[in-house]
Amino acid sequence: AFQIFRDVPELRQLRRQIIRNDRTMGFVPTMGALHEGHLALIREAAKENTDVFVSIYVNPTQFGVNEDLSSYPRTWDSDMAKLEKLNEELETSRAGTGRITAIFAPTSKVMYPTLPPSSEIDGHGSFVTITPLARKLEGVSRPVFFRGVATVCMKLFNATSPDRVYFGQKDVQQTVIIKRMVKDFLMDTEVRIVPTARESDGLALSSRNVYLGSRRRNIGLTLYKALTAAANAYQAGKSSRDDILGAARSVAERVLAEQCALAPNLRALYEVDYISLADPESLEELDCVDPKRGAVLSTAFKM
Ligand code: PAJ
Repeated sequence: AFQIFRDVPELRQLRRQIIRNDRTMGFVPTMGALHEGHLALIREAAKENTDVFVSIYVNPTQFGVNEDLSSYPRTWDSDMAKLEKLNEELETSRAGTGRITAIFAPTSKVMYPTLPPSSEIDGHGSFVTITPLARKLEGVSRPVFFRGVATVCMKLFNATSPDRVYFGQKDVQQTVIIKRMVKDFLMDTEVRIVPTARESDGLALSSRNVYLGSRRRNIGLTLYKALTAAANAYQAGKSSRDDILGAARSVAERVLAEQCALAPNLRALYEVDYISLADPESLEELDCVDPKRGAVLSTAFKM
């Protein structure tokens, strides 16, 4: 069983006890609406630590003014049921495996004790900014997103003092920014990245997939098809930007053409926001992949 904490002091007491007993803690930050992708992070954390802390907090500062803060799915009861079931699974699996021992579900008063509601807009308050990484890719169309993510993760890490933190590869720019934050602020934790959990057809699991009807779900699936085509081109020996991203673009365009043939009036409802082949630490765009350094391939469509 796990304990649920709404505030920091009691959580820190448990954390200190874990340290005194020479146990280790892996931390999995989430915004709830849990699915198998979140559970994959927790399973990985339980393999590498005796204790797993999971946070559930829909962080207001990472949502833009016209984004989905008020409608973001909140599914507390089913989240708790999934975590209890996962703990049973972890308890019956082989010895040496860790468990979830704490859920941290703070209020905004706890997370933002001094921030008045309007201060975001006039530029006051305490924030963590990671530039220029936060301005690239996803940051172009979501200018406050990574500032909010870095700020809340800094707070969550300070509240929990984790030995290791677990993030999903799906949100690759987030992983690059968190690694940079940990490095630049000399934070005493290890950042672990977990592969993307997908539906059987390849669509990445996401709490926001509940927004998708079948037409937009198909467009979402195109992201996977485009990235797979590009990754396959790389595996087949291509290393230039044009060859790798060209493979992604031609898949995206073919699927778009298919969709338009089915519904000619829908053309304007889907456009490529970015397709990027970038350095794994700086996120600078690459002309060519150095296999020793690797690269981050990512894309976003607007629909
Ligand atoms: P959220 O979207 O709830 O995701 C929590 C964690 O689960 C993130 O590390 C995310 O990358 C990971 N995740 C989501 N879908 C996944 C999938 N299909 N496979 C593997 N991992 C997946 O990301 C956030 O919340 C927030 O920005 C947060 C870090 C909690 C800060 O508020």
